[in-house]
Amino acid sequence: MNIHPLLAGRTGGLKPSPIRKLNPLMRMPGMISLGGGYPNAQTFAFESLDVVFKSGRNFEIRDKAMDLACQYGPTGAHADLKPHIIKWHAAKDGVELKDEQIQVLNGAQEGLHTMAYLFLDQNDSVALSEPAYPGALGAFRAFTERFIPVPLDAQGMITAELERILGKRKTRGESLPKFIYEVPNGHNPAGVSLSLERRSHLLQIASRYDLLILEDDPYQLVQLEERDLLPTLQSLDREGRVVRLDSFSKIFAPGLRLGYASGPVEIIGYFQLYKQGANLHTSAMDQALLTGFFANHTDEEFRALIRENCRIYRRNRDAVVAAARKHLPDDVRYHVPAEGMFLWFEMPAGFDADRMVESDGLDLGVLLVPGSGFSTTAGLKNYMRASFSMIAPEQVEEGMIRFARMIERERKRR
Ligand SMILES: Cc1ncc(COP(=O)(O)O)c(C=O)c1O
Repeated sequence: MNIHPLLAGRTGGLKPSPIRKLNPLMRMPGMISLGGGYPNAQTFAFESLDVVFKSGRNFEIRDKAMDLACQYGPTGAHADLKPHIIKWHAAKDGVELKDEQIQVLNGAQEGLHTMAYLFLDQNDSVALSEPAYPGALGAFRAFTERFIPVPLDAQGMITAELERILGKRKTRGESLPKFIYEVPNGHNPAGVSLSLERRSHLLQIASRYDLLILEDDPYQLVQLEERDLLPTLQSLDREGRVVRLDSFSKIFAPGLRLGYASGPVEIIGYFQLYKQGANLHTSAMDQALLTGFFANHTDEEFRALIRENCRIYRRNRDAVVAAARKHLPDDVRYHVPAEGMFLWFEMPAGFDADRMVESDGLDLGVLLVPGSGFSTTAGLKNYMRASFSMIAPEQVEEGMIRFARMIERERKRR
């Protein structure tokens, strides 16, 4: 597809850094480099690092590997990490990425911001399912306040509704969104996943209206049931419309801030140009830690460890759902998630979750996130998001009892 009509005005101004361009040449054997202002590796503070993983495997970063982990590196990815990502991605999603199709990021969050930077001018809009991840809304809002919210149900975004909305806009001569933002698995906050049928439909719609799709998929492997993964939007895409964000936050360690964007070479090229200006590259030390993990575990072992970790989430989900069934009134509705970390509670119309948390959260000692933060218009007032990822099993019952009290207080206030 031709992405040029979709790019934001500012994106045309991105130019490659004259120094970064030399980076691959500087690393060539035999090259005497008086280029790049890199500090001398002899001056770095680190001698070696012993890393022991919970799996029992260990490895050491030292000598040349330590120099690389401490030194400035390529913008796209740490050279040793890239082959691992390519293999991981192919095994996981069945998509073979070329070198130029990968941009390592400071978490998927950086990808949300970058996509917005590259494509959104002030009058542009983004179509997304509502409720929406507030971190995405925040990233997009830095560039535009215009959203095209699409409702979702237990099967994810109601794509027939998206089709209807876009058809109407086209007929009226109104502008179309620059891209469709979707969290296809373990949606934050709704906890639903997009059905296979709707995945195909979403791609058909993007094709018909010539739009990009931003597939943000940090919960893909946070599976709470034994079932096969659904194909990613990227794997179903035949026209180069999908920019996909993978994250290592929920499956490795969020504090390392590691994720990657993958997609059409041209778009990933723009991601790289943007990153050169924003932060040069993702921490080489963090990339070295992930490289060490990949080097010491097969992809299947990594997947098995993730599945094992998901038992914690499954146990927590089951406990929270059981307590919700026991303590919450029947007019509070929710979907039992098969993926991700969230339960999305719908309370009766007229309930005001912000008021509930403000008035009673501290007093009752229970915290949930009010729905308005997940809305493009500060709506969704009668919704609350509960995360079950961190709750201690012994707190679950009491947590739901307190939430039930909060609901009763609000019922009286109404
Ligand atoms: C839907 C969604 N996208 C992106 C992110 C950010 O992920 P990362 O830690 O990789 O930046 C989150 C984090 O909670 C999320 O829920």
